Amino acid sequence: MSGHKSPSDYAELVEAQAEGERPIAPGRADTGKRCLVTGGAGFVGSHLCDRLLADGHSVTVIDSLITGHKKNLAPHARLNFVEADINDAHIAEYFSGIDWVFHMAALADIVPSMERPAEYHRANVDGTFAVLEAARAHRVSRLVYTASSSCYGIPDTFPTPETAEVRAMYPYALTKWIGEQTALHFCKVYQLPVVSLRLFNVYGPRSRSSGTYGAVFGTFLAQKLAGRPLTVVGDGKQTRDFTYVTDVVDAFVRAAVSNVTGEIFNVGSGGSYAVNELVRLIGGEIVHIPKRPGEPDCTFADTARIRQQLKWQPRVKFPDGVRLMLESIELWRDAPVWTPDSIAQATESWFRYLGVPKREENHGVR
Ligand SMILES: NC(=O)c1ccc[n+]([C@@H]2O[C@H](COP(=O)([O-])OP(=O)(O)OC[C@H]3O[C@@H](n4cnc5c(N)ncnc54)[C@H](O)[C@@H]3O)[C@@H](O)[C@H]2O)c1
Repeated sequence: MSGHKSPSDYAELVEAQAEGERPIAPGRADTGKRCLVTGGAGFVGSHLCDRLLADGHSVTVIDSLITGHKKNLAPHARLNFVEADINDAHIAEYFSGIDWVFHMAALADIVPSMERPAEYHRANVDGTFAVLEAARAHRVSRLVYTASSSCYGIPDTFPTPETAEVRAMYPYALTKWIGEQTALHFCKVYQLPVVSLRLFNVYGPRSRSSGTYGAVFGTFLAQKLAGRPLTVVGDGKQTRDFTYVTDVVDAFVRAAVSNVTGEIFNVGSGGSYAVNELVRLIGGEIVHIPKRPGEPDCTFADTARIRQQLKWQPRVKFPDGVRLMLESIELWRDAPVWTPDSIAQATESWFRYLGVPKREENHGVR
């Protein structure tokens, strides 16, 4: 279709526009590392590959393409793509000679995790175990685990520090947390140099737009393109720590370069923005849909630890990030356009599993 840009065109566009915001290179010369990115054909993983290649490293991607897309990765002489599941027995061979492993491969949707917990356990727990075993066998010098702020559930404290209680509300959150704890266990027992990054709400071009109802950005952008109202959950006053993907990627690079091990770091923007503010920046009609059980009213990372220990700080301001998303809106042309009815259907199990049972439906239990 004329006027459409490919994801790689957008990678250049975003790169050029973020030029003034380019993250500062870490303090040491670390060019020419051999990197392995599991899940590198996904949203965050493909941006990480762009950054690693731009920094002069070589990259092997292992991805089953279950939610990722090969087109997210622009061809590059130093990029080697392996289509495989991280649970496949032969993946260990790709760890030979690797310096840095970035483990991003995971199933990452909330509702399917409630419907098919075994699949999530297999991908996120067994898969992580397989990656850790391969990394240990080949004595990699660094493994950065991609954890999720969903482990905090509905926290008591905002901004939320890494020490907050773990309150996983659904199997996705639980499996990501078990993966993290397993990685840290390998660090303690086998001295595998592991760092875990707990990502808050990451946004940017190429964010997942699979058939599954999920992250608010993709939902709104597809609705805007189709001229349909934006489906605002509840009153829209809930706030999210929206963190731009190139900032997140910079945290991964700093975690790889650093000597810190066995540590967990929150990766968040340092702000928390109302969904209503996002709606204002995107523009368009809105329609309200019911608030979901188990969803926090606020996500807001305490980022003191990563700022201090990795000298990381987010650079892309929220309105600038939203502008970049709007400039790449064509990427959501083929994404599903959700309506209040289709969302009600898609989230039915969410209400079923996490909703507080009504007294009269409670099988007579008082
Ligand atoms: N996007 C966010 O806001 C966010 C927030 C917190 C944590 N995370 C974590 O970041 C990572 C990347 O998320 P994303 O948003 O880019 O999702 P994504 O779905 O775009 O990327 C995940 C990638 O992993 C691949 N994959 C899944 N299971 C696999 C398997 N068994 N073997 C090989 N490849 C497999 C998929 O094909 C996909 O390319 C995930 O670990 C996710 O849990 C993301």
